[in-house]
Amino acid sequence: MKRRDLIKKIGFAAGTVALSNVAMASPVASDQKKRRVLKVAHITDVHIRPEYNAMARFKKCLEMIKKDKVDLILNGGDSIYAADYDNIKKDRVLELWSCWKKSVELVKDIPMYSVLGNHDMWWQGKGDELFGKPGVLKMLGLKNSYYSFDKNDWHFIMLDSNHPQTPGMLDEEQWNWFVQDVKSNADKAILIMSHYPLLSCTGIVDNKPDFIGPFKVSGSYNHLDIMKFIEVFNKNKNIKVCLSGHIHLLDKVWYNDVNFLCNGAVSGFWWEPGDDNKSSYKQTVPGYSIINLYNDGSFDDEYIKYEA
Ligand SMILES: [Fe+2]
Repeated sequence: MKRRDLIKKIGFAAGTVALSNVAMASPVASDQKKRRVLKVAHITDVHIRPEYNAMARFKKCLEMIKKDKVDLILNGGDSIYAADYDNIKKDRVLELWSCWKKSVELVKDIPMYSVLGNHDMWWQGKGDELFGKPGVLKMLGLKNSYYSFDKNDWHFIMLDSNHPQTPGMLDEEQWNWFVQDVKSNADKAILIMSHYPLLSCTGIVDNKPDFIGPFKVSGSYNHLDIMKFIEVFNKNKNIKVCLSGHIHLLDKVWYNDVNFLCNGAVSGFWWEPGDDNKSSYKQTVPGYSIINLYNDGSFDDEYIKYEA
């Protein structure tokens, strides 16, 4: 499909939504009928660990995803509890990745695409095969920490937010790749996934004592290069959805025709009792999202509270 046609289609679909809001009949021609082309599960912040019965609980989540009959799973990072702290030894890193592998074996028939979370990297074992990002790529079976792929008319861009000096942004090399990748895929609807949110309101409600004021928000909550992203998004209206995790809170920000979904956490309060004694982090209970993607570039989504 040519880009012009896609925009026409997307514009037409938007008009249809506006019409349906005032209860008028949709004039969609049969060949342009809105059709679901993909069903996706977005899991993020699994933080798998041997404690708190986490593996059995995660498997319950994966069983539900299996029953949901999704076409693919997007894994938003922080797959393991934490390898990044100073006191972590190799045995613990191996134990965590073993928990991960044993769990995801359940969904081995569903394609899974992952990004790197800040807690996935082990920084203590310099020279070891598990050290840093190469170690995580190995465990997740990835060639690169950022990449893209196509599936059923949609283009998926997987970003690495873990900038070595300033987490929550892309380095120059990745940024140039991103801009080029968007340019080369103007004829498809685009979904982006990052670990850190590109744009989120959680920085307001998840206020921490280290902030100077209630509305001063660190790069943990909004990518530090969000203004650059917004410029690119404004010129490329085929970019529709941006998924993230990291905060363990559930929010949805719609800005300038792009939807930014920060999709809670499979682990809730890192599998621990949490703020409600049932593993909630603040008001967000453990969950994953089911996202339906349509041929006209639209989508719908639902957060599944699999332990509720
Ligand atoms: Fe996390």
